[in-house]
Amino acid sequence: MIASNWPVTPVGRSWAQIEADIDEGRRGDVHWTSKRNLSSSYYAGDDVAFVAREAFLKHIGDNVTHRHGLHPSVLRYEQETGDFVRALLNAADDCPVTITTGGSESLFLAMKVARERARALKPAITAPEIVLTHTTYPVFNKAAHALGLKVVQLPRSTDYRADAADVRQAISDRTIMMVGGAPPFPYGLVDPLREMSRLAEEHDIWLHADCCIGGFVLPFAEALDRPVPTFDFRLAGVRSISIDFHKYGYAMRGCSAVVLRNRDDKQFQNFASDIWPAGPYLSDTMSGSRNAGPVASAWAVMNYLGYEGYKARMAQTLTSTDRLVAAINAIPGIAVHGEPEGVHFSFGSPELDMVAVGDELMERGWMMNLQTEPASLLLMLSVQHDAAVVDQFAGDLADVVDRVRAGRVTRRDNAVAYGIY
Ligand SMILES: Cc1ncc(COP(=O)(O)O)c(C=O)c1O
Repeated sequence: MIASNWPVTPVGRSWAQIEADIDEGRRGDVHWTSKRNLSSSYYAGDDVAFVAREAFLKHIGDNVTHRHGLHPSVLRYEQETGDFVRALLNAADDCPVTITTGGSESLFLAMKVARERARALKPAITAPEIVLTHTTYPVFNKAAHALGLKVVQLPRSTDYRADAADVRQAISDRTIMMVGGAPPFPYGLVDPLREMSRLAEEHDIWLHADCCIGGFVLPFAEALDRPVPTFDFRLAGVRSISIDFHKYGYAMRGCSAVVLRNRDDKQFQNFASDIWPAGPYLSDTMSGSRNAGPVASAWAVMNYLGYEGYKARMAQTLTSTDRLVAAINAIPGIAVHGEPEGVHFSFGSPELDMVAVGDELMERGWMMNLQTEPASLLLMLSVQHDAAVVDQFAGDLADVVDRVRAGRVTRRDNAVAYGIY
């Protein structure tokens, strides 16, 4: 193709022009730190965001793949963030932690380990199955497809929380893995991991606890003496956990970890090839080259906040969550689904059109996720959602509910899915 036919940007532009273009384009975006953003923002204050960003920028040109040769500083970040995560999840000092690009990669790796282990230790299972709760993150379904596992998906329970009796029933002699969320994204209610752990031990099934959201929430909620069911390696049946630094660990996006209970299981994660002319190729992740910025950012935030800093921010966010849950439950006709343990939850109504409620709240500048089953709104809180924001939202919601009930507001026809999903 010759330059004059080049479809976009045949000649370059100045940074000033490009920046103006970016700023113009972003005008329609919701800023992640916005107080009206009740979708997933994971903001912990401008000071924390500054530390996360600066550390990221220092390593923006570095490749994690070259940490053993070019960037040994990155190895240190991986080791020390790994130590923090082990302590948070009550893991043994020697259990393998792998830093990944995000929750989805961590989940994928856990599934790969479970499948390889089953192949090695249970060769009689030729059509392996994985039991997923109704609310399990869909990446497990995607990975099952890629890894050749049959998904046995649990039905929706009556109280939105997965039912241990359904789990028991779904187990067959082909089941190699089960997944429980702590908590899952929909409803924010922790799955019955204690019971699942017992079943996992009884049937020798790999149990993964998906703590991508809860990994930096539940340990602090527990330390604050709130009612949190045990969800981590204290449960003997839990063999792997995923935990995201880029969610409530407040790092810049692109950083998660997968943690295995037993050192021996790491062999099922590793890949090695010695047929390449450039030399041996060893890898324990799905990704190849990846930016060192995210893990540097996770390490920097961890050092900036320390355990107590995370705890204080979580205490504040949990207090706001309690306030919002109570305010929503006080509005006639709508109710929060169950009693969430963390800082996100959903609410709905058997009598009101929740899509209309959501549309009108969006019209007033609030951003959230719309859930389909049942039609409901999902809110996820962070540090910017203080008491004043909570009261403003609850006031708007009460007003919108009245207007929807009176038929003064109806859903718009363009049925958009708000939020991310
Ligand atoms: C419960 C849960 N697990 C895993 C993930 C995947 O995380 P990521 O988006 O970092 O890949 C998400 C994402 O929202 C999630 O909510």
